[in-house]
Amino acid sequence: MRPGAVLVALAVAWLAVLAKDPYGEDCQNQLYPPTGPRVKGSIPNYFINLDLPPHERWAQVARDKKDELNILIEHIKKIMTVVFPSSKMIQLLESKLAWLGSTLPYPFADEIKGIADACGAPLGDIVIFNVFYEIFTVCTSIIAEDDTGKLYHARNLDFGLFLGWDIKNSTWIVTQKLKPLVVSLDFQRNNKTVFRSSNLAGYVGMVSGVKPGIFTLTMNERFSIDGGYIGVFEWIFGKRDGWWMSFLTRSVLENSTSYEEAKDRLTNTRLLAPAYFILAGNRSGQGSVITRSRTAALDVWELNAKKGTWYVLETNYDRWKVPLVVDDRRTPAMKCMNLTMQQNVSLPALFNVLSTKPVLNKLTVATTLMDVSDGHIESYLRNCPDPCSPW
Ligand SMILES: *[C@@H]1O[C@H](CO)[C@@H](O)[C@H](O)[C@H]1NC(C)=O
Ligand SMILES: *[C@@H]1O[C@H](CO)[C@@H](O)[C@H](O)[C@H]1NC(C)=O
Ligand SMILES: *[C@@H]1O[C@H](CO)[C@@H](O)[C@H](O)[C@H]1NC(C)=O
Ligand SMILES: *[C@@H]1O[C@H](CO)[C@@H](O)[C@H](O)[C@H]1NC(C)=O
Ligand SMILES: *[C@@H]1O[C@H](CO)[C@@H](O)[C@H](O)[C@H]1NC(C)=O
Repeated sequence: MRPGAVLVALAVAWLAVLAKDPYGEDCQNQLYPPTGPRVKGSIPNYFINLDLPPHERWAQVARDKKDELNILIEHIKKIMTVVFPSSKMIQLLESKLAWLGSTLPYPFADEIKGIADACGAPLGDIVIFNVFYEIFTVCTSIIAEDDTGKLYHARNLDFGLFLGWDIKNSTWIVTQKLKPLVVSLDFQRNNKTVFRSSNLAGYVGMVSGVKPGIFTLTMNERFSIDGGYIGVFEWIFGKRDGWWMSFLTRSVLENSTSYEEAKDRLTNTRLLAPAYFILAGNRSGQGSVITRSRTAALDVWELNAKKGTWYVLETNYDRWKVPLVVDDRRTPAMKCMNLTMQQNVSLPALFNVLSTKPVLNKLTVATTLMDVSDGHIESYLRNCPDPCSPW
């Protein structure tokens, strides 16, 4: 990262502090079907065959997205060179990361190895993408119930914070480089869909997905000073009794067969780091935001339309705390949900909420919309025309 980029990022941050919500705007409407300046390009579809050995499952995706993945990895390495200026240290780090990859549980270690082989990248580079991706993710997830009891689930995936600002294009460099990696995935067993997801090529954990007819699930990053990434260090030093967060999400999508079972696993499984799980089932009232520490659920916020809670909405803050003044996407998103009203809830309505600045911002890579009843998932790459909040 050039020093100039750092200075600009700091200046932008300072401006954001001075002017509270300088990028806010009226709630958007009629942006669906998505066209125009707030969307950018389409997303390819792939089947992932769970009957294949893990090493072979991602071969097609990894081969097709090899160039984009390598460009991203080169950029991540450039950032690492700032922290570890000698190439010897980078090599050492790469070999340690390759070792870390080998400690990951089945089927993740083999899948990651398969991706590295298919795109000809060093294993350590694919491991770093899989292990540290979650750290820089900030997001917005919403579950809403309409007045007939039908459930909708949608999310913005915001990624790339602090990883370098492109002054010329006024964009986050990593956010831009991630967009060509977004893929729509259909995981199958015996030629039948087990779950669908929108995800990044090369990444084997899941941050969003739908199990047709049963549940929808998204995960948001939870920043917490106590507990933070201690679990990751414990893993490195041999204490491996917790789950990597997005591996748990993937396992729940793959193996849980009901809303209750999914909720139980997401609430009670020990984790390596804190997280928010946003889970919806297939009937009225089945929707929750599960706030997790590494060891316990601190709060489960549930839908209850009869008592007025017809939606639950999570960004990256505990619901009982106020968001950071410089990063309040929750208040604008709730304002737009309130204006929408329960009888107008639909996937297009949620798309409009997620397209309103600063819920839509310079970090937003993609928006995903899910309908559990027919197992439908659709995703759009995003663009946030200026003036637009950097996060
Ligand atoms: C910035 O924009 C230019 C022209 O539109 C493009 O060629 C270049 O690749 C962009 N840079 C990044 C990092 O996206
Ligand atoms: C899946 O379908 C293909 C082609 O339709 C067939 O060749 C294959 O045997 C099927 N696999 C399973 C596990 O049923
Ligand atoms: C809803 O999910 C449950 C499992 O949680 C399943 O038994 C039931 O068949 C599903 N209902 C519909 C209408 O798909
Ligand atoms: C939205 O409505 C709820 C319920 O009436 C209320 O508690 C909340 O303060 C409202 N939020 C905003 C931002 O308007
Ligand atoms: C929501 O529904 C109400 C009543 O059905 C209607 O009057 C209103 O125009 C709708 N609002 C939007 C934003 O669609």
